[in-house]
Amino acid sequence: MSRAPLPYNPKVLDLFRNPKNQGKMDDATVVAIAGNPACGDMITYYVKIDDETESIVKITFESYGCAANIATASVVTELAKNLTLKVAWETLTWNKVNEAVGGLPSVKSHCGILAVGALKRAIRIFYEKRGTLPDWLPKEHTFEEKQALEEEQLADTLSKKLKVEEEK
Ligand code: FES
Repeated sequence: MSRAPLPYNPKVLDLFRNPKNQGKMDDATVVAIAGNPACGDMITYYVKIDDETESIVKITFESYGCAANIATASVVTELAKNLTLKVAWETLTWNKVNEAVGGLPSVKSHCGILAVGALKRAIRIFYEKRGTLPDWLPKEHTFEEKQALEEEQLADTLSKKLKVEEEK
């Protein structure tokens, strides 16, 4: 039985085939990973940050996820470049990114939310490494960060279950 193709819009398909800013960065200030390599839904951002202006000078990504994840990550890197971390944090929400890719099929929303959650994680890592959290950075995880954590916990639980089954 063949499965019906997902109704991706042409923009998502184009970004999937021709993603921007894809690849590793050797001199990144922050490397943030979200998702789980065990199931392949994993994204990594490499972010070069200007320490003084606290702005994103360069950002690239590697994704092992699906078309939705690659397309949203590509858009995130394009939108985030040259923004201060504060502006990136406040403006790059899931809704904004979903709008920028022209909308994802609802079953693929989690893949895009993961791409946004990973960027938020990168910003949090930067300040945690510095040891000073700015006032505008909430202590509580955002909805996108929570989604990334949930996916990681779920993947972890599944891989533990599989291991137990294999050992039986
Ligand atoms: Fe896993 Fe999209 S990233 S299904």
